[in-house]
Amino acid sequence: MVNESRQPQIPLTEAIRRRTSCRAYNGLPLAPEHLAMLKGIARSAPRLNAAPVRFAFLEGVEQTEAILSGLVGSYGKTRGAPLLLAGIAGPGQHRGESLGYAMEWLILEATRHNIGSCWMSGTFDRQRLAGRIVLEEGEEVLAVSPLGYPSADADSALSQKLVKTLVGANKRKPLRDIVFTDYWGNSAEALLVNRPDLQRMAEAVRLAPSAVNRQPWRLVITPSIAVLASVSKRSGLDNGIALCHWAIAAHEEGLSGTWDLNPDREALRQALRLPPRTALIGVYPL
Ligand SMILES: Cc1cc2nc3c(=O)[nH]c(=O)nc-3n(C[C@H](O)[C@H](O)[C@H](O)COP(=O)(O)O)c2cc1C
Repeated sequence: MVNESRQPQIPLTEAIRRRTSCRAYNGLPLAPEHLAMLKGIARSAPRLNAAPVRFAFLEGVEQTEAILSGLVGSYGKTRGAPLLLAGIAGPGQHRGESLGYAMEWLILEATRHNIGSCWMSGTFDRQRLAGRIVLEEGEEVLAVSPLGYPSADADSALSQKLVKTLVGANKRKPLRDIVFTDYWGNSAEALLVNRPDLQRMAEAVRLAPSAVNRQPWRLVITPSIAVLASVSKRSGLDNGIALCHWAIAAHEEGLSGTWDLNPDREALRQALRLPPRTALIGVYPL
């Protein structure tokens, strides 16, 4: 049904720019090659660390609609998605970050193939979902995403626009509010002007989706490391998504580092002057 073999694949950084939450789908099932591709990537997508993360897929518009709820009552409810992706984290440290990282990778691969998605950690019925997938001891579904081809009809476009306005989805903080250099609060504007590579990596973080678009992440960049911190204590998934975006953009800039989630936190907090209420998430070598 869908022959994309002749089309060059867009880079994942382009998928970062194109991805947007989709809450209205055209109801058509995914092409078999798309479904197979997603299931393959669910197994092979890069993982952030050794924490156990896995995915389950539920098929059928009816089933998906029965599990997804609206933002307020049925307002903002997702319609017409033929597939539901469930992101499952096992026990262990940094489970939100681990799931956020791998699931965002999968969502960006879907975006590359024009498959719509929407991160959801709140607006789904956990009990109904639990009846449909088997969880091992210690496992939990941290988030789901509908997957399918976006609807092209005007009513859907209007209701999507209203939902996006409600959650403030179209307002991203400017880079100057989220990126510092050398220590917390110190403007990185001059650095980013002189280092377009770092600017592109920071921009990839800025474009990351986050729950109610709260954008809790901050970057502190020094000559030797980039540090991701969060102003929220409960933002594991958001952090994992941001770590994923940075890693993809850094890889495209020719860097081959990985995130260290277990640095010497106290020493770094002092050196970077992190305020008491922030959480230090990870360190990436430059
Ligand atoms: C971890 C996470 C949880 C989210 N939970 C929900 C949700 O429960 N329901 C919903 O409609 N949107 C949810 N969203 C979507 C966000 O509102 C959306 O990503 C954000 O407003 C930015 O918009 P964009 O994805 O179109 O860039 C969630 C996003 C993230 C990253």
